[in-house]
Amino acid sequence: MTLDRPLLSAGWSSSNKRPEDAFLTTFMETLRRDGRRLCNALVSELDALGPARRSWNPSSQPVVARLDACLAKGPQETAYLRGAIAAMKPYLSWQRAPGNPAVNNGKTDFHYRHAFCTLVGEDARVPTTRLRVGLLLIDAHCFYPLHAHAADEIYLPLSGTATMQIGPTPPKVRDPGKCLLIPGNTPHAIWTGDHMVLLAWAWLGDIRGPFLYHS
Ligand SMILES: [Fe+2]
Repeated sequence: MTLDRPLLSAGWSSSNKRPEDAFLTTFMETLRRDGRRLCNALVSELDALGPARRSWNPSSQPVVARLDACLAKGPQETAYLRGAIAAMKPYLSWQRAPGNPAVNNGKTDFHYRHAFCTLVGEDARVPTTRLRVGLLLIDAHCFYPLHAHAADEIYLPLSGTATMQIGPTPPKVRDPGKCLLIPGNTPHAIWTGDHMVLLAWAWLGDIRGPFLYHS
């Protein structure tokens, strides 16, 4: 079902003073409802975060110009999360990761047509050395090539339908609103279709371990 009411409706937005708290609280509710082991582990980590906050350090990237379209569209299950992101929008620090260094020295189509930000992490708004949580925005008709990293990862697609390969099984279409679990060192890839895709992501476990593209 597509969202048909204002993103910033009453509820969390009136009771949470910091917009990242609204996002994290709602993310934790989604993880609790999922109930799988990795989701519960992330809830425990998020529960243990302290009250310290760094200053926001806003920065943008070309694809972020179309973030509003992603925030306006998605299933009801992700409406509060999209609203919380709308409230954080002026403050987010969007970056781009290098593409596969084996292809055109990392200057790949993916490199130019995605953006990510980190809300929880070593240098992020919510400081911790134990995990990373953020957002990933990938343009329409784009390919995030097969890669793997030592950290366990959880993706929560919020808007747009992506096709994702996780491990050796064939790629599958993934609708927004359901957590996708990627154990550490499992190769995974994302293809987008006619629409941009917005995902929440979290890394936990060996977050400083290697990240490798699979060519
Ligand atoms: Fe990943």
